[in-house]
Amino acid sequence: MAGLGGLRAVDCAPCHAEIVAEWRTSTHAAAWVDPQFRKELAKDPGVAWLCINCHTPAADQQERLHAATALVRAPVVSENPSYDPAFQTEGVSCMSCHWRPGGIAAPHEGVSAPHATVYTPELRGAETCTACHQAVARVEDTLVCTFNTGAEWAASGQNRACPACHMPEITRSHASGGPVRTGGRHTFPGSLLPKKAAYTAEELAIIGDWAPGATLEAQVVDTRVEIVLSNARAGHMLPTGDPERQLFVRLVELPSETVRWEARIGQTWTWWPVAQRTGDNRLAPGERRALTAPLPPGVPLQALELRLDHERISAENAAHHDLSNYARMRTVHRLPLVAARPPAN
Ligand code: HEC
Ligand code: HEC
Ligand code: HEC
Ligand code: HEC
Ligand code: HEC
Repeated sequence: MAGLGGLRAVDCAPCHAEIVAEWRTSTHAAAWVDPQFRKELAKDPGVAWLCINCHTPAADQQERLHAATALVRAPVVSENPSYDPAFQTEGVSCMSCHWRPGGIAAPHEGVSAPHATVYTPELRGAETCTACHQAVARVEDTLVCTFNTGAEWAASGQNRACPACHMPEITRSHASGGPVRTGGRHTFPGSLLPKKAAYTAEELAIIGDWAPGATLEAQVVDTRVEIVLSNARAGHMLPTGDPERQLFVRLVELPSETVRWEARIGQTWTWWPVAQRTGDNRLAPGERRALTAPLPPGVPLQALELRLDHERISAENAAHHDLSNYARMRTVHRLPLVAARPPAN
């Protein structure tokens, strides 16, 4: 592309250093190297050519080129002379969203850049994201693609598009020497589940403030805990996306970490002989859900903690894929229990 040394994020870094550093902390930058993705890709190589269209969408990121035929597992395969392995490792990179035939998609009008730009105000719309985050298709009896986040967002009828929440607003110069403008940080925070064991302190500093989608409230009444779990901030179902994602509200006894009660929020699927969704109790945007947990008898309140855990994969499946040293879940909230005051008289 005119005025550019290359199409990789490293080629943008000399002038857009902060944006590249933000993107590096994001799940997008891990879309190829993600250990879970690599394990799942290797498990069923016959359909891997479908997966890479969202995880490494640029042609130069793909080792071979594939053309679909009537048979999913028999695409026409050809060599790719412009394959760039270093570009492949960048996963969902700058050009996954910014590439246009005439130049780089620019959200601002009248930019003066050393490379070609195309004024694209709709870059800030949901379409930039739903290209990959909305796909519902049955590939085979036991293989379905179910990313429904775009439809969930549309059904909620809100006026903020995905980037307005997932690219926190910042006013700065977005290119070295460029003018100060209001734009979005490229951290794309979501569940904040890292695609490795843990984020580094440096990464956490770049990600900055990001409030989780759910709020959790609890009050002890007699022998039970009255809980309210709400989808306060997400513009779609909670959890969304991958059907394996689930939330658990757990009453945990300390210090033994014994789970005394739990409620699961998520989708339920059977995968064989025909993949189908058999349940879905996720939280709609804005929904407040009341839950009641019985207090375990004989355990002092101070020894109990209420937690909200977000799991991307079950312990069994993580073990099956041999995903050690990989963050399987994250505790989003921890609440000490408070007894309701006796009514004032
Ligand atoms: C040699 C320096 C340089 C390189 C390399 C470079 N850019 Fe730029 N880019 C600029 C400048 C300067 C601007 C204009 C900034 C402005 O007006 O706010 C700009 C503008 C942009 C804009 C539009 C900004 C807006 O506010 O609308 C985008 C998007 C962009 N660049 C993306 C990229 C991507 C992606 C790469 C790598 C593939 C890249 N740039 C490489 C210097 C560079
Ligand atoms: C080219 C395809 C593609 C596009 C376009 C895309 N994404 Fe993604 N996104 C992905 C993939 C793939 C992952 C997951 C990578 C992984 O986990 O290995 C992901 C992950 C995410 C996550 C992290 C999920 C989590 O659990 O934390 C968020 C948030 C997200 N995307 C938001 C967006 C938003 C907002 C946009 C539009 C501005 C967007 N994405 C555009 C492919 C895409
Ligand atoms: C998942 C999609 C996506 C990816 C990946 C992505 N961008 Fe953006 N980019 C956007 C969107 C959407 C905006 C508009 C944000 C706004 O202005 O609120 C934007 C805006 C920009 C701007 C203008 C400043 C601003 O925030 O308005 C620059 C410069 C830019 N991107 C460069 C890059 C570079 C460099 C990379 C790779 C390191 C990159 N982008 C990766 C979607 C993406
Ligand atoms: C009103 C703000 C808002 C809007 C609009 C929004 N999101 Fe989110 N999204 C969130 C929050 C907050 C989370 C964090 C949820 C959590 O704590 O796990 C989230 C989480 C996610 C995740 C991670 C999966 C998960 O369940 O945590 C993905 C992927 C995602 N959003 C994609 C999108 C896409 C794509 C769109 C547009 C179609 C979009 N979001 C619109 C606020 C928003
Ligand atoms: C239509 C685009 C698309 C295709 C095709 C696709 N993915 Fe993804 N993938 C995504 C998006 C978007 C996410 C992240 C957010 C979410 O869960 O919705 C993701 C996330 C993932 C994750 C991380 C899940 C998590 O909870 O963190 C894995 C693993 C994965 N994909 C594997 C695959 C495999 C294997 C294939 C091929 C069989 C595949 N994907 C095909 C778009 C796609």
